[in-house]
Amino acid sequence: RDEPIVLGIETSCDETGVGIVRGHTLLANTIASSMDEHARFGGVVPEVASRAHLEAMTPTVESALTAAGLRFSDIDAVAVTAGPGLAGALLVGVAAAKAYALGLGVPLYGVNHLAAHVAVDQLEHGPLPKPAIALLVSGGHSSLLLVPDVAQDVISLGSTVDDAAGEAFDKVARVLGLPFPGGPYIDRAAREGSGSAMAFPRGKYDDGTLDFSFSGLKTAVARWVEAREASGEPVPVADVAASFQEAVVDVLTRKALQACARYDVKDLLIGGGVAANSRLRALAQERCDAAGVRLRVPRPGLCTDNGAMVAALGADLVAAGASPSTLRIPADSSLPI
Ligand code: KG4
Ligand code: ZN
Repeated sequence: RDEPIVLGIETSCDETGVGIVRGHTLLANTIASSMDEHARFGGVVPEVASRAHLEAMTPTVESALTAAGLRFSDIDAVAVTAGPGLAGALLVGVAAAKAYALGLGVPLYGVNHLAAHVAVDQLEHGPLPKPAIALLVSGGHSSLLLVPDVAQDVISLGSTVDDAAGEAFDKVARVLGLPFPGGPYIDRAAREGSGSAMAFPRGKYDDGTLDFSFSGLKTAVARWVEAREASGEPVPVADVAASFQEAVVDVLTRKALQACARYDVKDLLIGGGVAANSRLRALAQERCDAAGVRLRVPRPGLCTDNGAMVAALGADLVAAGASPSTLRIPADSSLPI
């Protein structure tokens, strides 16, 4: 066998993700989530997440090995998310990865979480075109990246100046009385409503940058709902959800296509938890078709945080002959791309 078997560990937020790949072949992708413990707080509680990672780490690694039909001695390299993310949560994964790498006598690769969100698509759709543009939208990040080579060169073109896109979905869901995390509930409610029922504001729509802003939109929706409640009339949840969602996906797809045009790139990748949004997928496809851009969106299980994405990027680093990290590598909550 010539392709390396890489164990990937992801603990930047609430998911303890362990993935195993051979080159770009996915062998296992096992996840333990502490989301149930956070739901009643309406957001991820860092200390709770860290403790949950500590408890889940060893069993999740063991079940990934079992799922792949492998033993520890089959692992050729260990990759881990070194940042960005919650500091205490990252530390658990980084410490575990160091221990596995040292114990197994294999190289360790600390990787960037955002680059891993890009690399994962290769497990499903094959090698990434070079260059590509990536739109990463989740509860923790909203970024546009230019990706000449995911293993060596990823350039940030823009990001949110306030809330992440998923965060806006979660906050608006709360205003509408929907459960946390609210993205999937807004998506579902919106199917019964009209995206043009209300004209909610689109932040940074025409400002010429590739940055995003969602806090003004979130506040506008909250004000609208409050005013409606004060009037005693029922809140049209489906229309509010659809109109809010339309404002978000309009600006996301508009800026993603602007990035493609500006850098003359013909391949767009969308990743992160919000990439599961049905309206985002549909509008992105429509606008990509109109612009002659090819669209790649990994399946939902690879879009949300997982260990396979880290393993996939680790495999790229091994293939590129990148230097491994030392055992001194820190967890860095604000690791730049
Ligand atoms: O990538 P992810 O699992 O975790 C991080 O935040 O890194 O993303 C979770 C986010 C949440 O904000 C959730 O509400 C959002 O993704 N999300 C969605 C949908 N499914 C998940 N947002 C909109 N529509 C969806 N269908
Ligand atoms: Zn993520």
